[in-house]
Amino acid sequence: MSTPHNAASPGDIAQTVLLPGDPLRAKFIADTYLEDPVPFNTVRNMLGYTGFYRGERLSVMGTGMGCPSIGIYSYELIHFYGVENLIRVGSCGAMRPELQLGDILMAIAASTDSNYAHQYQLPGTFSAAASYGLLKTAEEVAAERGFPHTVGNVLSSDLFYGEGESWRSWAKMGILAVEMECFALYCNAARAGVQALGIFSVSDNLATGQELSAQQRQEGFTSMMEVALETARRISR
Ligand code: HPA
Repeated sequence: MSTPHNAASPGDIAQTVLLPGDPLRAKFIADTYLEDPVPFNTVRNMLGYTGFYRGERLSVMGTGMGCPSIGIYSYELIHFYGVENLIRVGSCGAMRPELQLGDILMAIAASTDSNYAHQYQLPGTFSAAASYGLLKTAEEVAAERGFPHTVGNVLSSDLFYGEGESWRSWAKMGILAVEMECFALYCNAARAGVQALGIFSVSDNLATGQELSAQQRQEGFTSMMEVALETARRISR
């Protein structure tokens, strides 16, 4: 059985899935890092592949941008395909001057300006959090490799082009960086009782105005991918 957005059959997708925003990034990850990658989806060009990384079966699929988009794809992966570990790999804009371009950031929590959690009709404010097992493993892998990394709260914003400088209010609350998807991923995982983590490469810095060059962007991406792949391998064993 497929879904409105995913042509895969049950069994086509591994229990652990890496989730970049860009579907062509999913293709690149499959071609570069996975052995014997098999495509499982082309609906809306939201490409997905299943292959092997150092002996463990892993999948990679694009999510699109923003909470509604990753909300759809991650919900279907969890509820229609039995995915149990979801690792977002993306870029983020740092809010603190000390965060260097290319650094790895791991989201222990995600705050948001999105309404995604209103569906749960909670009598208060939900704190969207990473799965500790995934976070602990990723942190260990980054430390072993000597990759500069920071663990903290991110903002999953509905806005890329927003009015004013509202990010400064979030920065006062200790938020490290802005991206656009982690909150919905953590909500879907929490509601379903599965595991999720967002790992990011700092691609720009709102506080300093710095942006990565193409080469720096690639280097940052490579270290983030090493952490994500090795984390996925260890938790799939
Ligand atoms: N905003 C939102 N998402 C992002 C950014 C940003 O500045 N940089 C990388 N992803």
